[in-house]
Amino acid sequence: MKDHRFKRYTVTAALPYTNGPVHIGHLAGVYVPADIYVRYLRSNKKDVVFISGSDEHGVPITLKAKKEGITPQQVVDKYHRIIGDSFRDFGISFNIYHRTSSRTHHQTASDFFKTLYDKGVFTEEETEQYYDEKANQFLADRYIVGTCPNCNNENAYGDQCEKCGSSLSPTELINPRSTLSGDKPVLRKTTNWFLPLDKMQPEIEAYIDSHKEWRPTVYGQCKSWLNGGLHPRAMTRDLDWGVKVPIAGADGKVLYVWFDAPIGYISATKDLCNPTLSEQEKTDYYFNETFKPSEQWENYWQSEDTKLVHFIGKDNIVFHCIIFPAMLMAHDKFILADNVPANEFLNLEGDKISTSRNWAVWLHEYLEDFPNKQDVLRYVLTATAPETKDNDFTWKDFQARNNNELVAIFGNFINRVLVLSHKYFEGKVMFGSEPTNTDQEIIAELKAYPAKIASSIEQYRFREALSEFMNVARLGNKYLADAEPWKLIKTDEERVKTILNIGLQIAANLAILAQPFLPFSADKLVAMLNLDIKDWDQAGRVDLLADGHQLNEAELLFEKIEDDAIEAQMQKLMNTKTTNEQEEVILPAAKTNITYEQFLTMDIRVGTILTAEKIAKTKKLLKLTVGTGIDQRTVVSGIAEHFEPEQIVGKQVSIVLNLEPREIKGILSQGMILMAENAKGKLSFVSPGEKLANGSVIR
Ligand code: 2FM
Ligand code: ZN
Repeated sequence: MKDHRFKRYTVTAALPYTNGPVHIGHLAGVYVPADIYVRYLRSNKKDVVFISGSDEHGVPITLKAKKEGITPQQVVDKYHRIIGDSFRDFGISFNIYHRTSSRTHHQTASDFFKTLYDKGVFTEEETEQYYDEKANQFLADRYIVGTCPNCNNENAYGDQCEKCGSSLSPTELINPRSTLSGDKPVLRKTTNWFLPLDKMQPEIEAYIDSHKEWRPTVYGQCKSWLNGGLHPRAMTRDLDWGVKVPIAGADGKVLYVWFDAPIGYISATKDLCNPTLSEQEKTDYYFNETFKPSEQWENYWQSEDTKLVHFIGKDNIVFHCIIFPAMLMAHDKFILADNVPANEFLNLEGDKISTSRNWAVWLHEYLEDFPNKQDVLRYVLTATAPETKDNDFTWKDFQARNNNELVAIFGNFINRVLVLSHKYFEGKVMFGSEPTNTDQEIIAELKAYPAKIASSIEQYRFREALSEFMNVARLGNKYLADAEPWKLIKTDEERVKTILNIGLQIAANLAILAQPFLPFSADKLVAMLNLDIKDWDQAGRVDLLADGHQLNEAELLFEKIEDDAIEAQMQKLMNTKTTNEQEEVILPAAKTNITYEQFLTMDIRVGTILTAEKIAKTKKLLKLTVGTGIDQRTVVSGIAEHFEPEQIVGKQVSIVLNLEPREIKGILSQGMILMAENAKGKLSFVSPGEKLANGSVIR
C-alpha cells in the first residue's frame, strides 16, 4: 500500500434503519464493498476499525411500531437481531455492530449537541410546522407525504423524495397529508434549533472542492447541492422517540435522526475501545474479539493521520458529505471523511427494490434457500455492483455467474490442480525440473496481479478488482489446459511436478487474493492447501508452498446451481407481484349516506339478455333486449369492449327498471344493466347466485 499519510483507518458502513430485515440492495450498495475494503486493509496489516450498527430512531421505526401494535423499542430489539445476524452470516466483518438506542450513544449524541449549543452554533427559530389534529402530533419527516415540488412524485416524504433524491422539508410538499390519519394537516408554531448551513457554505464548499477524486456521482451531487445554495436545517424535532434535546425548555423534542445517526459511528467506536464493556453488551453489539483495536477511540476520530471512509447508498450522500461534515466542523475536534464511496441503487428483475412491496431478496431467506452460498451472492453483487449507475440483479444472471464463472473458472482450476496432486503425488507439493520459458511468463504475469487488484480496491473500484482476481483463476486454468500434465505423466514425471507446483502456487495466491471478496471460500482453500501465510504482501510469489508440503483433501469450492432452484426464486417473485397487484387497488372514496327510503325508490330486478348486437359506428355500445318478467325492453349498454354479443345472450343480469329512459345513438334505452368494475376497469355482470325467474326483486 502506497498511502503512507495514514496510520490507521476508520471505515463506517451506513447504519440501517431498524424497521425491517436487510436485503441484497443493502449488501450490494454498502456492506459488501465496505467489507472487501476492510478485509483488504486487514490483510495488509493495517490498523482498522470497521463500524456499523442499527439506526434505531427516526419515523420509520415509530410507524412500523404503530402498524404492528408494539412499542418502538420492541421493533428495534427484533430487527437489531435479525439484521445483525444477517450481516454476521454473510461474513460482514464489523468490529462492532452497535445500536443508537444504547446508553453510550444517547450520551454521546447528547454531549455533541450540547457542545454545539454552548458554542452558539445553532440558531433558535420559531417556525410553522404541520400538525395532525386527529393524532395530536407534529408531522416531521416521514409522518407526512405529498407531491414532490421537483419531480411531481405524489408520494414524496417530508424529508426526502425517493424518486428524484431531493431533500425536502414538509412545508415544500404540495398537497401534504398525514401518514397517521391521512388528513390534511394544519400549521402550528413550534421552536427548533437549526444548523446554519448557509453560513457554513464556504467551509463546506472548500472541503468538497478538495475532493475532486471522489466518484463523479458523489462529487456531482454535492456540487449541485452547493450550487443551489445551502439553507439552515433543523436539528431537532417535535417527536418523542429519539435522543432527548439536552437543554432546558425542550420538552417533547428529540434530536433530528440525521443529527444523531452519524454520531452513532462515534458512539460505536467508543464502546469498541471501552475495556469495561460487559459480556452482555458485547453480545448485543456483535463485538468481534479478533479485531480488538489497539488504541483509544479518539485516535480513530480526532487524529489527522486517520483515514475516515464512509460507505453508503446514494440516498445518504447529502447527509454524509454535507450535513455530518458541517456538524464535525462546527464541533472542531474531528477529522472529516477522506472519501465517501456511495453506490447507486440495485434493482431486482427490472423493478426498484422495495421493503413495503416486499420486492426484495431478503438475506435471511436467501440463506435458507441457498445455505453456505454466501460467497456466491457476495460474488454476484460485487460483479454487478451499482458503482457508477443503477444496476439490475436477475436470478438468471446469478445462476450464470455461479455456473460459468465461480464453478467453471475458479472452482474448476482449484479442483483440477488439487485432484491431480493427490492422484500423482499423494497430495504433496513436488519441485521438479527447471521451469520453462512459458512457466516464467506465467510467473511474471501472476506477479503483477496483487498490485493491480490492490490499486482497484484502493480506488474503491471493487468490480474491477474482482474481475482482475478472476483473471488470476483464468490464468491458472489456461496454464493447466495448455501444459496438459495428464498427458505428460506417463513420459515426464519431473515436468508434471513443476506444472502442478506452479499450479498450486497460483492456487495459494488465489487463497490470499480471494480473502476480501470471497472470505468463506478463501478459508476453505487455505484449509485444503494447508497454507499458513495469508498476508497480501505474500501474494505474487511462487514459493508460498514448500517442496514436500502436504496438502489436505480436495473439496469442491462451488457447486452448479440447477434451473429448478432459480425457477423457485422466480416463482416467489411472481407470487409477490400478484399479491401486490391485488393490493394496489385504489378504491374510490365512499359516497355520502342515503336513507332506506331513498334506496327503496330503486326498482332493481333479475332479467335475462335475449338478444345482443353491436351498435354501428360505436366502439363501446351494445343494443340488448332484456326479458324483465314484466316486459321485453331495449337497453343500450357500454360493454362492447368487454363482451362479444353471442357470449352474453341467455345471461341473467341485474337491471334497474325505473331509470328514466334515455335516447342513446337514436335508440331509446329503458333501464340499466348493473356491472361490477375493478380498479383496472375490468367489467363483470352482477348476476343472481342461482337461476331465478325474471322480474325477481333485488333489494
Ligand atoms: O438510510 C438509512 O437507512 C439510514 N438509516 C442511514 C443512516 S447512516 C448514518 F448516518 F447513521
Ligand atoms: Zn422528487
